[in-house]
Amino acid sequence: MLPRPTVFIETYGCQMNVSDTELMLGKLTSAGYDAVDVPDGADVILLNTCAIRDHAEQRVIGRLGELKRHMKPDSVIGVTGCMAQRLGPRLLEQAKHVSLVIGPDGYRELPSLVDGARRGVRVAATRFDLEEHYEDFTPRRFDNVKAWIPVQRGCDYKCTYCIVPTTRGSERSRKLADVVRETQQVVADGMTEVVLLGQTVNSYFDGTHDIADLLRAVGTVPGIRRLRYTSPHPNDFSDRVIAAMAETPTVCEHVHLPMQSGSTRTLKRMLRRYTRDGFMECVARLRAAIPKLVLTTDIIVGFPGETEDDFAETLSACREIGFMDAFTFKFSAREGTPATRMPESEMVPDDVAGERLQRLVDTVRAMSRDVNFGLLGSRHEILIEKPAKRGELLQGRTRDYRTILVPGDKSLIGSYMHVEITGTTGHTFTGAPVANRMALPLAG
Ligand code: 5AD
Ligand code: SF4
Repeated sequence: MLPRPTVFIETYGCQMNVSDTELMLGKLTSAGYDAVDVPDGADVILLNTCAIRDHAEQRVIGRLGELKRHMKPDSVIGVTGCMAQRLGPRLLEQAKHVSLVIGPDGYRELPSLVDGARRGVRVAATRFDLEEHYEDFTPRRFDNVKAWIPVQRGCDYKCTYCIVPTTRGSERSRKLADVVRETQQVVADGMTEVVLLGQTVNSYFDGTHDIADLLRAVGTVPGIRRLRYTSPHPNDFSDRVIAAMAETPTVCEHVHLPMQSGSTRTLKRMLRRYTRDGFMECVARLRAAIPKLVLTTDIIVGFPGETEDDFAETLSACREIGFMDAFTFKFSAREGTPATRMPESEMVPDDVAGERLQRLVDTVRAMSRDVNFGLLGSRHEILIEKPAKRGELLQGRTRDYRTILVPGDKSLIGSYMHVEITGTTGHTFTGAPVANRMALPLAG
């Protein structure tokens, strides 16, 4: 019998891409391929790419060059995901050793496209399919502690900096019943935590049910202990959604709420559709309903036209809100997006943007450091996720998304543990197991 051909997929970008890679691997393994962990010697190498910033694309270009030198002569290289969608046939012209370019809606044809490529047929498949949710695919999951479940694809917001509506097309949601069925399967496979994914996940609507219905339905699937969802848009936090969060005990006390800027003027130019006050009000409504809520965010600095005063408003918004953490980015101009058509004179020089980025990082860190030192001695329930990078420790997470490192054997991965925080770097924590006695109040 001939050995099964092998496939290696390298993933860039967001969790949606990680989830897409799981679907692609599921599809290809059921079509006769074996998944391998390294590109060396693989018959098929796919890079599942991101287009959100130029840097993300440059990394892929660099990687393609590297693979060209190391690939075996008869292996096939493909580029999938957002950069594939954005560049389409241009990528085939630019990189002659790439034979497949497949956008996020093209994975159904993956086995036949890959088979074709192995026979020498080069293709770019970048048609959108607004019905596509890969409903009949069985994902091959990387993580066996928490399951990432896509519930919505595409995006209908048109933020002026963002390439995603171009690379992932219009918004569409999976049926609630299909998401519940996948959740039940995840529990049957031994997982207790689920993260629902969508570009603006709280605008989920399947024609009948909204995200409030979905949180209640998924959150009460027997066996589910923790439910998260990411990333929401502030404008889609209806009272119904907030009530569903507050009233569903499995929904965790953490929301990743992208702010992007604290300046109303900049937010307007970004077409975020909320003001600084609107964002603050959203935060206040969430915190009123879920008092222990922890917030993280995304922020862009150096958006065209951002003045020092605008940036100062971003810093003050961060101080006012007290994010536990922030993903911070320098604006990156993406071909075809409205922000690239703003006047040249408004572009923020790179050194100015870099300096703002540093001040922002320092501000967010200083705030969360103070809070984190205050947590020394508090007790939390953590889910053990994986071995920590450091020493013999394990890495666990609290419901509110803090990372705590604890001593313990790898066999504990996937289980819950009560711990007391014994140390902090200001960012992550170390903890020691404690008995879970009802008399002891649990923080978090
Ligand atoms: N430049 C910089 N950052 C961007 N993001 C999205 N588009 C851009 C861009 N053109 C950031 C936003 C978003 C996160 C995923 O990436 O903060 O929330
Ligand atoms: Fe994810 Fe956006 Fe990057 Fe696509 S462009 S991989 S949707 S972050």
